[in-house]
Amino acid sequence: MLFMDRVNKILESYQKVNRDSLIPILQDVQDELGYLTDESLEIIGDHLKLPASKIYGLATFYNQFTFKSRGKYHMRVCDGSACHLAHSASILKQIHKQLNIRDGETTRDGMFSLEVVACIGACGQSPVIAVNDDFYPGIKSSDVKGIIEEIRIKHQ
Ligand code: FES
Repeated sequence: MLFMDRVNKILESYQKVNRDSLIPILQDVQDELGYLTDESLEIIGDHLKLPASKIYGLATFYNQFTFKSRGKYHMRVCDGSACHLAHSASILKQIHKQLNIRDGETTRDGMFSLEVVACIGACGQSPVIAVNDDFYPGIKSSDVKGIIEEIRIKHQ
């Protein structure tokens, strides 16, 4: 399906569209495309009769939205205080090694992207990483390879 059609399909799924629908629409579009693009904001703006610049301003205000391409599996490595003390740096180093990407990058095959984040709310189980909506509490750097392999196998 074409990019535009995918965004329009989401807009059609909203029975009554008004300005309160903006955040849920942006979430749905990001879930569908993996990230927000200028073009998607134009389409949403036309639909809601809002300037795309306003939507952009709002989307950048919330850090749940991203304008960078993400991989199918987005890895978030927590480097908040508790995780940092529990050696999150060694986990991050292992991910760099296994995927050959740095923070903010996506693998060439589009499978994985990496982001270092502050506390993700599971300090009691630090160190923690998340892959999309799945959390991996109390992991060790030696677990990283297996987690990545498991995802790759699942994806085949
Ligand atoms: S510091 Fe990592 S989950 Fe809170």
